[in-house]
Amino acid sequence: MLMTQRLAAEAVAAVLAGRNLTEVLSRQRQRHPELEPRQKAAIQDISYSTLRRYGEVDFVLRKLLSRPDTDPAVRALLATGVCQLAWGRAAAHAVVDHAVKVAARLNGGYAKGMVNGVLRNFLRQKEALLAAAGEDALARWNHPDWWVAAMQTAYPQDWQAVLLANNQHPPMGLRVNPRKISREDYLAQLAAEGIAAEAEGPYGIRLAQPVPVERLPGFFEGLCSVQDLGAQWAAPLLDAQNGMRVLDACCAPGGKTGHLLELADIELTALDVDAQRLQRVRDNLDRLGLNATLQAADAAKPADWWNGQPYDRILADVPCSASGVARRHPDIKWLRRADDFAHFATQQAAMLDALWGCLKPGGTLLYATCSVFPQENQQHVAEFLQRHPDARRLPLPADLPESGQLLPNERHDGFFYASLQKKI
Ligand SMILES: C[S@@+](CC[C@H](N)C(=O)[O-])C[C@H]1O[C@@H](n2cnc3c(N)ncnc32)[C@H](O)[C@@H]1O
Repeated sequence: MLMTQRLAAEAVAAVLAGRNLTEVLSRQRQRHPELEPRQKAAIQDISYSTLRRYGEVDFVLRKLLSRPDTDPAVRALLATGVCQLAWGRAAAHAVVDHAVKVAARLNGGYAKGMVNGVLRNFLRQKEALLAAAGEDALARWNHPDWWVAAMQTAYPQDWQAVLLANNQHPPMGLRVNPRKISREDYLAQLAAEGIAAEAEGPYGIRLAQPVPVERLPGFFEGLCSVQDLGAQWAAPLLDAQNGMRVLDACCAPGGKTGHLLELADIELTALDVDAQRLQRVRDNLDRLGLNATLQAADAAKPADWWNGQPYDRILADVPCSASGVARRHPDIKWLRRADDFAHFATQQAAMLDALWGCLKPGGTLLYATCSVFPQENQQHVAEFLQRHPDARRLPLPADLPESGQLLPNERHDGFFYASLQKKI
C-alpha cells in the first residue's frame, strides 16, 4: 500500500502541475514494471477518485492547512489521504500510517509530522468539514466555477444532473462484433461467465459492473469492443453502405473505425495526425480481424494526403474539450481553462471546412465531439451552415435528442452529433 499511495499522490501532483493523468499513469507503469495488477488498479482508483472529488478535497485542505505554501508534493499526498479517509474502503489507521511514511521520504521530519497532524485532524472533524463543503460552490460541484456557470447557461434545466454525472463512475459499455457473433449469443456467453449485462442501443451491451477486459469472453479474439453506448451512435448515423468510399478523419484510437468496418464492406481511409496513436488503431483492427488504409496526416490539410477522389461519407470525430467524458478523465476538469474553446473552435472549424471539400455531392459528413459545450457543438454547426450554403443538417433518429446533444448520464457519456449532407 505504501507504493500505491506514493504513486497515486505523485500522479495527482503531476496533474495539478498541468500534466495529463493517462500519460502520467502510463509512464509510471513503464518506470515500475514490478507493479502488480492490483497495485495498478489501486493507484488508478485513488488518483481518479481524488481528482473526481478534488473540489471537496481542496476545500478540506484549505480549512486544515495553516500555510498556503505547502510543498505541492505533500499537498497532493494529503489530498489522496483525505479522499481515502472520506470515501475509501481502506482502514483509516493504515491510510494515515502509510501517508506518514511516504511523507518522510518526500520531505523528512517536518512533512511527516504535518501529514500525521492534518490527517488525524481531518478524521476528528470529518463530518463537519464534509458538511461545510456542501456550502462551497467549488466543493459542492467538484468543477471549476467557470465550468459550472457554462453548464447553467447551456442547460438551465439539466445543469445539475450534468455536473453530478461527471462526478460518477462511468458505466461500461460493450459493442458486439456482428461479423463474429450475434448480440444474443454474446449475452449468453457473458451470462455463462456470471457477468450481468443487458442489451442497449442498436449494437450495445451495458454491463451491470465494470470488469477487466481479460474477463470478457473472446475479447482478444475480437468478439466485442469496449465502447461507450453514446459513442456507438457514430457508425449507424454515418450510414455507410457496402462499396462506399469512407474517410474516418480523426480515427485514433480506432473505436469508431472498427465499428464502421463491422457494419459494411467499405473502402475506408483512417487518418490521424498522431502516428503513435495510429498504432493503437492498427492493434484494434487486428484484434477485430478488420482492415483499413491508415495514414498519419493532418485532416485540415487535404493537399498533403488526398488524391482528389471524393468520399461518400466522412466521419469528423474532431479533437475537443472532452467535457462530455470528464468522468473517464477527471483530470480535464482541472486542466482545462475557460479560454481553451477558442483554440478548439478554430481548429474544429478549419478541419470541418477542409473536409467538406473532400465530400461528394449527395454525401454525408458526420460531425462528432465528446463535448457538452455548445461553442464546440450547436454553435459551431450553425456557423458552418452559414458559411456553406451547399450544406443541410439531416434530422437524427427518434432515439436521439433532436439537438444532437447527448448529455452524460447513467447510460452513456456526453456526445454531440450533426449529420451534414452536401446538396446535389
Ligand atoms: C476524439 S479523438 C478521436 C476518437 C476516435 N474517433 C475513436 O472513436 O476512437 C480525436 C483524434 O483526433 C486526432 N487529431 C487531432 N488533430 C488532428 C488533425 N489535425 N488531423 C487528424 N487528426 C487529428 C487526435 O490525435 C485524436 O486521436
